[in-house]
Amino acid sequence: MPPLLADNAPTLSGSKGQPALVVNQLTKHFGGRSAFSEVTFDVAHGEVFGFLGPNGAGKTTAVRTLGTLIAPTSGSAIVAGIPLTPENGVEIRQRIAIMPEAPGLYLRLTVTENLEYFASLYGLPHAASRISDALEAVNLADRAGDLCGGLSKGLRQRVGLARTLLSNPAIMFLDEPTSGLDPVASREVHELILGLRQKGVTIFLTTHRLAEAEKLCDRVAILNTTLRIIGRPEDLRAQLFTTALVIRTRVALRAPDQIFTRIPAVESWRSDEPGSYVLSVSDPKIAAPEVARVLVGAGADVLAIGEAQHSLEDVYLELVADDVEASRE
Ligand SMILES: Nc1ncnc2c1ncn2[C@@H]1O[C@H](COP(=O)(O)OP(=O)(O)OP(=O)(O)O)[C@@H](O)[C@H]1O
Ligand SMILES: [Mg+2]
Repeated sequence: MPPLLADNAPTLSGSKGQPALVVNQLTKHFGGRSAFSEVTFDVAHGEVFGFLGPNGAGKTTAVRTLGTLIAPTSGSAIVAGIPLTPENGVEIRQRIAIMPEAPGLYLRLTVTENLEYFASLYGLPHAASRISDALEAVNLADRAGDLCGGLSKGLRQRVGLARTLLSNPAIMFLDEPTSGLDPVASREVHELILGLRQKGVTIFLTTHRLAEAEKLCDRVAILNTTLRIIGRPEDLRAQLFTTALVIRTRVALRAPDQIFTRIPAVESWRSDEPGSYVLSVSDPKIAAPEVARVLVGAGADVLAIGEAQHSLEDVYLELVADDVEASRE
């Protein structure tokens, strides 16, 4: 995918060191129902920030609130250096772009006509070069003359992305940008996001694809009306799961308890199936060689010793499953 032109670089706003987004106790109620409640976090300039959570968790409502489309019920936020107030809506909108869940295109207009319309709506100078750069960036230059109504869902999604690129925003809010895209198109969007990040654009990304969040995001937050956890994916894994070694032997050990309990680095162990053992350890680098020595000394044929891997999906399921159980109590 071709990079965006250098002279199209985003205008970063806010002084250096000040976060791109500061969210403090932000709450949005619809009638008696809370979409999200007392949410507090910061996003640094140039960060790709993942906003995860189950259906109805409040992600889109948070994007719409921070994007000045709806007013919060309480709490405060600073978006691209500007306090989130109704008076500041226009100024904030000049520095951000939002790609909504549905791209919202005029289906009877061509791709270029749609982008021309939005460029004039945003009052953007040099519309023609912005449009061609944006189309190049999302790999749609050859479909520029097609009617949007004749495009597949994925291609429309890409036109939506091109639309958000037009204004060279400092912060981009992408609400499920790869929803409904095939793996190749998703990868292109990922590359686009990483390219924008290299240029210093701050990206606020909601997604249900946890592998996507793990691949792209510097930090993620898991929301389920309230903020459940926030941090770098690797830190969240370490926070929620103890380190473990996974051992496989050719045949089941005859006296595993005798073997494992005499290794000081092993805190506890369990076996889910014959010949497969999970050992809780505090430092796998110390424990693994020791475990290997003891097993070989005991005459075991070791097939594999490795550190147990937990994905962001494990973290998510652990937290969201807890919520489901809590709501049943
Ligand atoms: N305009 C509205 N009026 C009333 N309730 C609303 C409105 N918009 C959202 N809600 C409610 O707020 C809650 C959060 O919705 P939201 O769309 O933000 O969730 P989400 O996390 O984006 O979910 P999804 O993953 O399905 O996109 C839901 O209970 C929803 O029904
Ligand atoms: Mg949503």
